[in-house]
Amino acid sequence: MSARIIDGTAFAATLRGRVRNGVEALVRSHGVVPGLAVVLVGADPASQVYVKNKAGRTVEAGMRSFEHRLQDTTTEAELMTLIASLNADPAVHGILVQLPLPKQIRENAVLTAVDPAKDVDGFHPINAGLLATGKPGLVPCTPLACVMLAKDVLGSLEGLDAIVIGRSNIVGKPVAQLLLAESCTVTIAHSKTRDLAAVCARADLVIAAVGRPEIVKADWLKPGATVIDVGINRVAGAELGKMKLVGDVDFKACADKAGAITPVPGGVGPMTIACLLVNTLRAACAIAGATATV
Ligand code: GUN
Repeated sequence: MSARIIDGTAFAATLRGRVRNGVEALVRSHGVVPGLAVVLVGADPASQVYVKNKAGRTVEAGMRSFEHRLQDTTTEAELMTLIASLNADPAVHGILVQLPLPKQIRENAVLTAVDPAKDVDGFHPINAGLLATGKPGLVPCTPLACVMLAKDVLGSLEGLDAIVIGRSNIVGKPVAQLLLAESCTVTIAHSKTRDLAAVCARADLVIAAVGRPEIVKADWLKPGATVIDVGINRVAGAELGKMKLVGDVDFKACADKAGAITPVPGGVGPMTIACLLVNTLRAACAIAGATATV
């Protein structure tokens, strides 16, 4: 293994410390304690774990955490009423509606109901449009995490060839926009891309966000490339009946070819919640008319 292993857990801990300092500064300067409201509809086990982790990290950062757990029979109208009250609540600076939502609720209608100034997921079309036009707004957390890690490894990204594998609204498209803003030459690859291996082989920076276990192979990589793996796939482990987590990248083989690579778990994953705290602090600062320090 020759690649530098990018330690997302350590980077996230440092980032959370910077957020905590920023929160203290905002409390001192404006008397404002940032508040994050997380809404969970239904009892999806993975979502329950995420929401619990988010609440714990929010309080650790010195912010207020508001949790709203609703039955999976909740109607869209009921959820809209809650979102309207959170939009109007001055103690709430960030609103996150955990996905996926039960099928009776239209995801798009809900995400567009969140006040764009409190949209710490960065999923509102207004924030997506601001990002696409290079204007300041709230940026989705996982893409922000990818770019922070890449810049930590490479310094400036200017002029680099970057490939984003995956074109989702949550990761692929926004991370491509962020890399463009960093002056990378960006290719967005997807399931219909012809000869993905050849496109990947030109890239100095690979962002894998397709949700397919270990599809990125070592022989696709340019030697020394930086590889950021967004995938979290649960697959059968070596031991009978045991599951394990793997990314979208064949980590073991790629670590011999890449210059730097994120592991799964311990790479992008821990960074995502830290970036949610960054966004909540940024939203609180913008609403209070303060300058964000993180
Ligand atoms: N479910 C899984 N990841 C996410 C995320 O980043 N934001 C929201 N709102 N729900 C999710």
